[in-house]
Amino acid sequence: MSGPMIGIIGGTGFGRIADLLAVQSVELETEYGWPSAAVVIGQIDQASVAFLARHGSPHRIAPHRVNYRANIAVLKALGVTEVIAINAVGGIADWAGPGAIALPTQLIDYTHGRLSSFSDVGDRAVEHIDFSEPFSEPLRQRLLAAAVSAGLAVHDGGVIAVTQGPRLETRAEVARLRRDGNDLVGMTSMTEAALAREAGLGYASIAVSANAAAGCGGSEIITMHEIEQTLEEAMQRVLRLVRECLRHHSPGIS
Ligand code: HPA
Repeated sequence: MSGPMIGIIGGTGFGRIADLLAVQSVELETEYGWPSAAVVIGQIDQASVAFLARHGSPHRIAPHRVNYRANIAVLKALGVTEVIAINAVGGIADWAGPGAIALPTQLIDYTHGRLSSFSDVGDRAVEHIDFSEPFSEPLRQRLLAAAVSAGLAVHDGGVIAVTQGPRLETRAEVARLRRDGNDLVGMTSMTEAALAREAGLGYASIAVSANAAAGCGGSEIITMHEIEQTLEEAMQRVLRLVRECLRHHSPGIS
């Protein structure tokens, strides 16, 4: 293996990577408890990768129940320095229809009651991390460059609302999210991005639109079937994007 190890957190529709040549599956309890699943360490092409299924393997942990602290802590403990997160989202903006892929630059947090800091353990000093730019711009730029070289349409930027879930939003809630300036709505990226920042890990999100958010012009009722079908196709493109990024656009990997 060569180069630094990159972490990949896969979300709904991306519970495993078929192309990951698994070398090791690591089950490690952290001081924050157990991560969602064993971390699969291996190689994609020549790159070292640590893959973690956010919702467990099989998919069973709802967004508000994920032990985000353990997930970030275990990746850090394994030597990961950067994390590419894959997040299924609903599309609010016109450009974010089902199947669209975006690399968001901003987020707004609407969650409540989540453990989203390492600071509240024991007598650890409270750290007020800078979060003006919640995503790693260098990593985002590498993903953008990878999209160009792979010929994939990817939206550069966007604001993602992070809701509590697991239910989807009402139309009125989405109308408010739109007024607030959000382009996308998901349930997981705030918690991970904040913890990654505290842990000193670069973190960027590949947001994949699974459906038009409630009242945004899609079907009257959003079904899991629709979400799963859209994601199945879109994740092929996400995998191409990740591979291209690992192959040509990672520091230290030739
Ligand atoms: N809202 C929030 N999270 C989501 C959605 C949605 O419409 N679709 C997929 N994840």
